[in-house]
Amino acid sequence: MTGKSKASPGRPRKPDPVAPPAFPVLRKFGPHRTEMRLLGPADRDTLLKFFRSHTRETIHLRYGYELSHMTEERAAELVGVDQTRDAAIGIFEHDQEVPLVAIGRYCLKPGGTSAEVAFVVREDRRRLGIATALLSALLAIAASRGLETLDAQVLRENQPMLEIFFGLGGVKSAIPGTGEVTVTIDIRKALRNLGRRRQH
Ligand SMILES: CC(C)(COP(=O)(O)OP(=O)(O)OC[C@H]1O[C@@H](n2cnc3c(N)ncnc32)[C@H](O)[C@@H]1OP(=O)(O)O)[C@@H](O)C(=O)NCCC(=O)NCCS
Repeated sequence: MTGKSKASPGRPRKPDPVAPPAFPVLRKFGPHRTEMRLLGPADRDTLLKFFRSHTRETIHLRYGYELSHMTEERAAELVGVDQTRDAAIGIFEHDQEVPLVAIGRYCLKPGGTSAEVAFVVREDRRRLGIATALLSALLAIAASRGLETLDAQVLRENQPMLEIFFGLGGVKSAIPGTGEVTVTIDIRKALRNLGRRRQH
């Protein structure tokens, strides 16, 4: 007996005793005061404005293809997810014309033990630790719900995103015939790695 519990295949395991973040979370990134909280239906127009502020490069890296327009319906879906199953988190700066400056989300995959994550951070708010904070919040939510892994589909050339995942123990596998890789993160291992970092 190792004392480690094993989940039955295809079922979420017993949730880890990890508390999900107590939203709203107020935090400074560099000089910028922010609020991190779950997105909701009232954020639709803010999300549309945020999308319109993205450069082509950002859209390409986030979605993997050119996307020149986002419909109101799509934006409503993206902010109106079932937050007890999926997770969609926004980081807001309330003194900005477009107050939304970053989004991290996950979408539960069939089987219920894994979810697919994605992030976008405003171009002039990068390298401040925002994506890492969003990933950390998503990991805590996922662990508290008993998920085992988070996956991301990342363009091979997206070094910033790959660095973040590899830094937490992510493992990549090729998606044949595409320019993307899948990175799989073991949630427990990633939370341990984050905990170790905080101690240093
Ligand atoms: C990828 C992205 C989300 C990262 O957001 P971010 O808030 O800048 O990331 P962080 O500040 O948390 O970076 C954490 C670490 O990742 C690595 N990293 C991040 N950006 C990097 C870059 N441009 N070059 C090299 N390493 C980078 C560094 O190790 C960094 O730590 P450090 O700043 O202490 O050196 C952001 O660049 C982005 O929105 N890109 C466009 C959309 C996208 O690629 N989405 C991913 C689709 S899954």
